[in-house]
Amino acid sequence: MCSIVNFNMNGVVKTFPVVYGTLHEKAINISTLREQTGYITLDPGFKNTGIAKSSISFVDGERGILLYRGYPIEQIIQKCTFLETSYLLLNGELPNDNQLDHFSEMINQCNLNNNTKILQICKNYPINSHPMGILSSLSCILEFMQEENNNNYIHLLATLPILAALIYRTKNGLFPVKYDNNLCYTSNILNMFFAKKTNNYQQNPIIVDALDKLLILHADHEQNCSTTTVRLLSSAHVSIYASISAGISALWGRLHGGANQAVIEMLENILQNGGNIHKWIEKAKNKKDPFRLMGFGHRIYKNFDPRAIIIKQVAENIINKLKFNNPILKLAKELEEVAIHDSYFIEKKLYPNIDFYSGIIYKAIGIPKDMFTVMFALGRLPGWIAHWKEMRLNNEPLVRPRQIYVGYRKRNIV
Ligand code: ACO
Repeated sequence: MCSIVNFNMNGVVKTFPVVYGTLHEKAINISTLREQTGYITLDPGFKNTGIAKSSISFVDGERGILLYRGYPIEQIIQKCTFLETSYLLLNGELPNDNQLDHFSEMINQCNLNNNTKILQICKNYPINSHPMGILSSLSCILEFMQEENNNNYIHLLATLPILAALIYRTKNGLFPVKYDNNLCYTSNILNMFFAKKTNNYQQNPIIVDALDKLLILHADHEQNCSTTTVRLLSSAHVSIYASISAGISALWGRLHGGANQAVIEMLENILQNGGNIHKWIEKAKNKKDPFRLMGFGHRIYKNFDPRAIIIKQVAENIINKLKFNNPILKLAKELEEVAIHDSYFIEKKLYPNIDFYSGIIYKAIGIPKDMFTVMFALGRLPGWIAHWKEMRLNNEPLVRPRQIYVGYRKRNIV
C-alpha cells in the first residue's frame, strides 16, 4: 500500500499523503493542494469527495454491503431491535441488558405527556402543511421545551415519534394519545398513531416486527444527503435540535427520503392509467421526459441495495400474513422485474433502492402517504445524532467548500 501519491503538475511533482480506511478504501488527502499548486478540486455532487473519517457505518456499493459499527445489516435485522441498534450507533457497542434497561428508562422519562404547548403549536399549522415541514420546525423548537438535565440525544429519540404521532393525529382531527411507558419503543409509535378513544391499539406482532425492521434498515447510511446536512450544521456548532431539523428538511426531497412517497404515487398513477408498465419504463428512459422511475438508482449502490432485498421480504411477509390485498405490490414486483432486465437500467446500474418497497409496508400498516418520509426520519434519527456527535468529538473543522466563480467580472453600476 503506498503512503503517498505524486502528481506531475506541468512538470513539477507534488506529493500528497494517502489515507486508508479499515476496509481498504483509499483517499488522497488534498488538504494542501491549493497551498501547493493554486488549484482546487471541482466535484459536483461530491461524487469523489470524502468529507471526514467516520466509524459509524460502512457501505460498499459495488458488493452491496452495509455495516453498522462493523455488524452486517443482515445480522442486525435478525438479532437486534431498533432500540438496540440506536444504542449501537450512538455509543459504538451493543448494550448489555442493564444498559438497555437504563436506555429505555431514560427514553420513558422524556415522554412529553404533560406538555400542552406542543399540542397547541401543532394545531396552529396551516391545514395543508406537509408533515415533514411541521416535523422539521417542531424538532427545532424542541430545544426550548426540554427539562433541565435531559440528555439531548435521548430527548430527541424519545420525542420525535411523539411529534410524528401528534402531527398525524392533529392533521386527521384525532385526539392526542399519550406515550405509554409500558409499551416498547416501536409499539408506542403504533399506539400513539392508531389508538382509539377507549382502548389501546391492538398490537399485532407481525406489524410491530415489520415497523421495527423498517426503522433499523433506515437507521444509518454513512454520508447521505441528510446526514451530510446534519454534519455540516454540526461543523458550525449549531445545536443538535436545529441540526436534526435541517436533516429532516434534506430528507424530505424526492431524490432522497421523499422518494418513498413518490414511489407509491407513481405506482398509483401507473395503475390509474391502465397499468401499462412498458410505457412507463420507456418514459423513464426517454431523456426528453423528466419522469424517473422512483425507487430506482442510488449514488453508491451500483450492484444491489442490501436493504432493498430485506425490505422486499418484509413487504411480502406482512402482505401475506395480513392477507392485505393490494394490487400495488403486484405492480411493484412486475415493474421491478421488467426494469432489472432492461438494458438501460442494467447499463446504468440502476436497481431498486430502499424506498421502492418501504411505502408498500407503510401502506399495509395504515400509515398515510404524506407520513412515509416522517417514518423514514424516525428511523434515520440515531444515525443523524451519531454523526452530529462524531463531528464534535473529532473536532472537525467548519465545512466550507470553495467554488469556481463563473459570474460577471467586476463591473460598475451605471
Ligand atoms: N430512472 C431513470 N433513469 C435514471 C434513474 C431513474 N430512477 N436514476 C438515474 N437515472 C439515469 C440518469 O438519467 C443518468 O442518465 P445519463 O447518464 O444518461 O445522464 C444516470 O442514470 C445516472 O443518474 P444520476 O442522477 O447522475 O445518478 P446519481 O448517482 O446522481 O443519482 C439518484 C442517484 C438521485 C438516487 C437517482 O438514481 C434517482 O433520481 N433515483 C430516483 C429517486 C430515488 O429513488 N431516490 C431515492 C434514493 S435512496 C435514498 O436517498 C434513501
